Amino acid sequence: MRVTVSRKAHFNAAHRLYNNEWSDARNAEVFGKCANPNYHGHNYELIISVKGKIHPDTGFVMDMKVLKALIREEIEEQFDHKNLNEEVPEFKTLNPTAENISVVIWEKLRNKISEDLELTVTLYETPRNFVTYSGES
Ligand code: NI
Repeated sequence: MRVTVSRKAHFNAAHRLYNNEWSDARNAEVFGKCANPNYHGHNYELIISVKGKIHPDTGFVMDMKVLKALIREEIEEQFDHKNLNEEVPEFKTLNPTAENISVVIWEKLRNKISEDLELTVTLYETPRNFVTYSGES
């Protein structure tokens, strides 16, 4: 039996979406308000899901205390109340869209979680807009 266990988390962060190689007008056209040079914030909601077999000794797929601590150390402490473009090294040259943030989060967690477990990141940028990444190339 393979079961999915999930943990919700949250961080507030600022970002700006833009492509250096485009004019201001083109950036404004493509990214709208998210291209604002003075940045803007989002209340990001994160769901980390881990899928695998129930361990017979514990009845757990993964110890949620461990997952909680991992999310706090690797994601919340790195991203919360940060300007993603300026303060998070991964976004120095990578546009901090919800898509790219979900991939960065997945990569930060992947090698900290047992290889036997599938990892999925779901990231809400707004209550209605969210992205999902499970390591597909
Ligand atoms: Ni935005």
